[in-house]
Amino acid sequence: MEKKETVSLTLFDEPVERRHTHSAKWDGAYAQTGNPDILPLSLADMDFRSPSCVTEALTQRVKTGLFGYETEYPEVNRAVENWMRTRHQTEVTAGVTTPGVVSALLKTAACFAPEAKGIAVFTPIYGHFYETAPAAGLPLFECPLLYDRDRGTWKMDLNRLDDGFKQGFTLLMFCSPHNPVGRVWTREELTGLVALCRRYHARIISDEIHMDLIMPGNEHTCMLRLDPEAVVLTAPSKTFNIAGLRHSNVFASPATQRKIGEAWEEERFRGGNVLSYVAEYAAYTYGAPWLDALLAYLDRNRAYVEEEIRTRFPGIALTKLEGTYLMWLDFTSYGMPHEELKKRLTESGLVLGDGLDYGKGCEGFMRLNIGTQKANLSLFLERLEKALS
Ligand SMILES: Cc1ncc(COP(=O)(O)O)c(C=O)c1O
Repeated sequence: MEKKETVSLTLFDEPVERRHTHSAKWDGAYAQTGNPDILPLSLADMDFRSPSCVTEALTQRVKTGLFGYETEYPEVNRAVENWMRTRHQTEVTAGVTTPGVVSALLKTAACFAPEAKGIAVFTPIYGHFYETAPAAGLPLFECPLLYDRDRGTWKMDLNRLDDGFKQGFTLLMFCSPHNPVGRVWTREELTGLVALCRRYHARIISDEIHMDLIMPGNEHTCMLRLDPEAVVLTAPSKTFNIAGLRHSNVFASPATQRKIGEAWEEERFRGGNVLSYVAEYAAYTYGAPWLDALLAYLDRNRAYVEEEIRTRFPGIALTKLEGTYLMWLDFTSYGMPHEELKKRLTESGLVLGDGLDYGKGCEGFMRLNIGTQKANLSLFLERLEKALS
């Protein structure tokens, strides 16, 4: 098992064949388009192999041939807590897990539904947020983010949220960093948000699955540092590219965490599986050097795409990428109907994240996943030229 290692950035340039591996991104795009040469830069996983510390730990476990029912995992909980303390300056008690953040979003919303008349969300937002309200039997209150196209920035509209709270929509499903606009909310912005929530005793459920994927010059603040009543959802899945192992963590104050844990115990709802715990332990214990190298590589990809788009496609408005590996591209100046844009991209051999999956008013927007080899981004730019010509 590796302890302290230096990870070369060239590791991320190595080609990785993901086709024929049941990859939702690659094999899904082929199934959708019938093009074996399709380049999908859509779904939010990366085209890199997970760190070797994870693969080695899984290999050792697989070799035992033992996959029966398990006891608790105190050493994994300590590793999770240590990660949150050292990387995020946040004290948590680990132990409540779910098989992914989407299930945690839906189940926590349901847990707090009796206390709220409705659920508020800032839009555009990751599609599954829209499911939380119907799943909890509540109406949804949309708060569109304020967009400055020239600056490429998005801001929360707290006046609009205030209106929602006045109507009793006192559960906020929050995304931090925000998918798809790549915002890493500043401490000041979050402090303002928490102050407003306090005024209405509104509960914040903060999806922080992208918490480790922060571009230089930005700083992620875990919501629990500002609001002890918040519920925070995290996972090692985006960070270490292990989403298929299905594992995420839920953090809250001891009383809230107990309430959630007990509600799910009653339903026999429980997350994780033996391999996901092994991977999480290895990732959080030994994976930091790999992550630091990954972040440097992603930042280079970001700079490359930004520069190329600025010079070759001045009609595309770029949103500043502060966090996540997902760039939000605005093609509206081309004046093309959304379906036409999608068709041209597909016909040129590209699948991007469809803007309409993130909410109303996202016609002309596409989400680009830069968690891939630079060579793929170069191919993307080449094909984009064809699509827009
Ligand atoms: C904000 C956000 N939450 C949740 C998820 C998915 O979480 P999981 O695969 O753990 O259910 C994603 C995946 O893209 C995401 O971007």
